[in-house]
Amino acid sequence: MEIKFFNSCRSMSESACDLIVDFVRKKPDALLCAATGDTPTQTYQLLVEEHSRSKGLFAKIRLVKLDEWCGVRPNQDGSCEDYLQKHLLKPLGITGHRYYSFKSDSSEPVKECERMAEILRKIGPIDVAVLGVGVNGHIGFNEPGDVLTPFCHVAQLAPSSQGHSMTRHFGFLPQLGMTLGMADIMSATFILLLIAGQSKTDVFKTLLSRKISSQCPASVLWLHPHTVCLCDNSSVQLE
Ligand code: F6R
Repeated sequence: MEIKFFNSCRSMSESACDLIVDFVRKKPDALLCAATGDTPTQTYQLLVEEHSRSKGLFAKIRLVKLDEWCGVRPNQDGSCEDYLQKHLLKPLGITGHRYYSFKSDSSEPVKECERMAEILRKIGPIDVAVLGVGVNGHIGFNEPGDVLTPFCHVAQLAPSSQGHSMTRHFGFLPQLGMTLGMADIMSATFILLLIAGQSKTDVFKTLLSRKISSQCPASVLWLHPHTVCLCDNSSVQLE
């Protein structure tokens, strides 16, 4: 994993946007896996700006949702679906046949994960995975624990994930999430890990220790041959 430091969220996001755009120029039908949440939002805004300058750039791109809360309506504020629709799918004109997604309101989340696993077997592997990291070290909803799970699965959410800012709209604390697994993520050709915010200081220090542990799923990215970690050094405080 290569780590790069930036002095603002804006400059981190510009670099992330450039890296994604470079990749898409080389592979226009790239399969992009997109995290939701606070950290990647500016990157996605910049991609949308690039789209308005370079018409057609994203005309063939495909997108797979990294994870989703169980038991929320797709158009519910704070659902990953709602986030992706607003920040990427609608602005970039990515329509149904180029978008693969866990259904947030599925009554059978295990079957929903099996369905996504099957889809990923057909369309994968992922070309570019854009990830954030949880305060507890999760990536997607691969939560810390004694073991990690390779493929799409239903995850019991850690308390810090249940309390994520996205869930404040729900009126209840979600217990379960659906997520791509660690092998799905690690099979990506290129992984972009974005880290910003004071709350990420501890997890970033853990990452910097270069120790790999299932108790910090993001640390497994040290084993990936092409991961770039971009850190907004103005908000993550190392000293
Ligand atoms: C969301 C996701 C999560 C977030 C993580 C950080 O789709 O996959 O792993 O990336 O919880 O969230 P923010 O960026 O809001 O701090």
